[in-house]
Amino acid sequence: MAKDVIIALDFPTKEDTLAFLDLFTDEKPFVKIGMELFYAEGPDIVREIKARGHRIFLDLKLHDIPNTVKSAMAVLAGLDVDMTNVHVAGTKMMMEWALEGLRSGGRDTILIGVTQLTSTDEKRMNEEILIPGKMEDVVASYARLAEEAGLQGVVCSPLEAGIVKEACGEDFMTVTPGIRFGGAMICDQTRITTPKDAAKGGSDYIVMGRPITKAADPVAAYKRAVKEFLG
Ligand code: C5P
Repeated sequence: MAKDVIIALDFPTKEDTLAFLDLFTDEKPFVKIGMELFYAEGPDIVREIKARGHRIFLDLKLHDIPNTVKSAMAVLAGLDVDMTNVHVAGTKMMMEWALEGLRSGGRDTILIGVTQLTSTDEKRMNEEILIPGKMEDVVASYARLAEEAGLQGVVCSPLEAGIVKEACGEDFMTVTPGIRFGGAMICDQTRITTPKDAAKGGSDYIVMGRPITKAADPVAAYKRAVKEFLG
């Protein structure tokens, strides 16, 4: 399976985003467009970055009633991105309908499911959102549900990639945010690891935002991530 580093373009404006991408002269990183940028700039930012030749993970984490998610996915299908996602918590039916909507565009965009956000720890999951049990068991069970619904993989913590592979097989894709170089810049993430350990743990794609976008030299930070992750 393809493995790569995905840069999270968590910028507030098109200008900031394009200025950041202009730093990359030799390579075309796989990038993630999330809610901040998409809500600020709309679908045109996706078209513009795609036209520059980047592969795109559109990270909007849809979670609503199945019919609404299906209709929204049918619209997003027109953007022809490489990867997009929904929350597994939306249920198997919502994921199946999401896939139907996405496929109505006739493209092969990869659809993955968010298991538990990497900012959520087990205590919060148990006590605030009232999901009992161990984080690993919940993630494995959500991953199996995503697989049953026909999704191609999940977003999970790098610490759970191995558990997902055990539950769903090697071909089931693991996309893992929560990556940090050493102990630096933990911010709001809790279930984190380094690019090298993520590779060892079974991540197929690592998503890195602030450790690259806020680095003094983002291109060097990106190259370091690629080197550590791909070896
Ligand atoms: O800056 P940082 O490396 O923490 O960015 C991680 C990115 O991955 C953010 O865009 C965040 O929204 C996203 N993400 C995450 N945890 C998930 C799913 C997506 O951190 N479970």
